[in-house]
Amino acid sequence: MQELLQKLSIYKQEIDAETITSKEALEHFRIKYLGTKGLLKNIMGEMKSVAPENKKAAGQALNEFKMFVEHKYEGFKNGLHKNEETASALDLSLPGTPLPQGTRHPISIVQNKILSIFQRLGFAIAEGPEIEDDWHNFSALNMPQNHPARDMQDTFYINENPAWLLRTHTSSVQIREMEKGNFPLRIICPGRVYRNETISARAHCFFNQVEGLYIAENVSFADLKQTLYFFVQEMFGKEIKIRFRPSYFPFTEPSAEMDISCLICKGAGCNVCKKTGWVEILGCGMVNPNVLENCNIDSNRYTGFAFGMGIERITMLKYQVKDLRLFSENDVRFLDQFLSAV
Ligand code: DAH
Repeated sequence: MQELLQKLSIYKQEIDAETITSKEALEHFRIKYLGTKGLLKNIMGEMKSVAPENKKAAGQALNEFKMFVEHKYEGFKNGLHKNEETASALDLSLPGTPLPQGTRHPISIVQNKILSIFQRLGFAIAEGPEIEDDWHNFSALNMPQNHPARDMQDTFYINENPAWLLRTHTSSVQIREMEKGNFPLRIICPGRVYRNETISARAHCFFNQVEGLYIAENVSFADLKQTLYFFVQEMFGKEIKIRFRPSYFPFTEPSAEMDISCLICKGAGCNVCKKTGWVEILGCGMVNPNVLENCNIDSNRYTGFAFGMGIERITMLKYQVKDLRLFSENDVRFLDQFLSAV
């Protein structure tokens, strides 16, 4: 009897040390311990030689041992099954997780469109610095010191050197290009500009403009009108109407502001056009002879037109964006909507 119990304890240790990692090993375990010629059957046979007074205790010990082996077997089986499940969850033929596709910023989309329309008319792209001096941003544009028109644009000056400022408009690029002295001159100038404005749905301290300039002999206001009419038709569609209102800019004479018929209500009157049927999109005019002379251009020989427009404004009209701040917040929920606009 003692001998039998000892054997059982050794077998238990042996079985405890087993590890099963494959179906084959599991089957091997089953045959070895639970099979018809296995260890369990074998050891049960030993009951015969146990003395009658010990039979009860031996029977109990054997039963316990049997349950122990069967329990072990079930445990190994379940463990293998789990492993198999995780292995099949890892399907290497599945396509990868896609990276979200980026998109061009709406301001870039509209800027590129504006540039390409004018490029087709023979305008070349010109750019200038965002940190400007007083001459290019103001004085040469017929806004000498103390000119009241300077107050229209609240300017950021550079602390280290107040002779420098952040350009308030891209008209400064006109001056830089005219100073180069190559005529005829036909340029379109995109760029970021800065004004000390309180940020709101309709104003920001930085935004983007496109400036246009055409200098040659015999350029007339009719050329200006026709160029801008072509532009808005390409930009917004053939049914668009334009109108010019007299205005004032120091660098043009005469000056005008151009309106387009409201895209939303088609002229019937809505909130966007403040019930007028028209929305303003740009300022323009014939280049003031003083500006030409400031750049050493003979104003008796050359004339020209210029215009300037805000890209945010055009974008807001084209895509019906109601808040200017959306353009600089970089919220993908906003930017994602322009995926198909490119
Ligand atoms: N520079 C003006 C502004 O920022 C826009 C402008 C108006 C530009 C008339 C021009 C122009 O070239 O002729 O408000």
